[in-house]
Amino acid sequence: MNPNVIIMDHPLITHKITIMRQTETGTKQFRELAREIATLMGYESMRDLPLEDVEIETPLTKTVQKELSGKKLAFVPILRAGLGMLDGVLDLVPSAKVGHIGLYRDHETLEPHEYYCKLPDDIDKRQVIVLDPMLATGGSGAAAVTFIKQRGCRNIKFMSIIAAPEGIKRLSEEHPDIQIYVGCLDERLNENGYILPGLGDAGDRIFGTK
Ligand code: PRP
Ligand code: URA
Repeated sequence: MNPNVIIMDHPLITHKITIMRQTETGTKQFRELAREIATLMGYESMRDLPLEDVEIETPLTKTVQKELSGKKLAFVPILRAGLGMLDGVLDLVPSAKVGHIGLYRDHETLEPHEYYCKLPDDIDKRQVIVLDPMLATGGSGAAAVTFIKQRGCRNIKFMSIIAAPEGIKRLSEEHPDIQIYVGCLDERLNENGYILPGLGDAGDRIFGTK
C-alpha cells in the first residue's frame, strides 16, 4: 500500500462510523459524529506538524521547550459535506484559516463541477488539510487538490471519513505528493458511484435535505 495513504482503523473511529452508516441515525447525531471523527482524524493527521524551540520560564526555572513552528494551517472543506468536518478540526486549531471549494457531482458522468472557490490569499505558505467525508470516484477530491495547487500550495493533506478503493487510487495517482487520511476503507462503488456499504449521501444526511 502507498505510504501516503493512511487508513485509520482506530476502534473509536470505526465504532462512530458504524453508527453514522445506520439508516436510523438522524441528522443531529450524524452531524455530531462527523465532527467528532474529524477531531480524532485531525489529531492523527497533524502528528508531523513541525515544532521549534522556545525559551520559557516555569515557576522554578528557565527552560527550552517546544512549540508549533511558523507554518500555519488552512482547512478547506469541499462543499457541502466537508462542512460537517470543519468544526471538528477547528476545535484542535481554532486560529486556522478556512477556504471553501464548492463542487457537485454530475449524476450521469459522476465528474465534479465547480461552483465556488474562495481560498486564503497566503494559501501557498500554509499546510492545507482538505476535508470531505466521502472519497468515492475521487473526482471531487482530485479537482479540489488541483485548485489548491494552482494557487501555489504544495503542502496538502486530504481527510475523508469513508473511502472506496477507486477513490484512493484516483486521488493518489493524480496527486502522489499528498497524504490521504481515511477513517475506513470500504468495499467498492455501486453502479451510481455510491460507496458500498457506505453511509448514503453525506451532504443530505448532514444537512437533512432528504
Ligand atoms: C459528495 C461528497 C464528495 C463527493 C464524492 O458530494 O461530499 O464531495 O460526493 O464523490 P466523488 O469522489 O465521486 O467525487 P456531492 O457531489 O454529492 O455534493 P454535496 O456535498 O453538495 O451533496
Ligand atoms: N457521495 C456521497 O455522499 N456518498 C457516496 O457514497 C458517494 C459520493
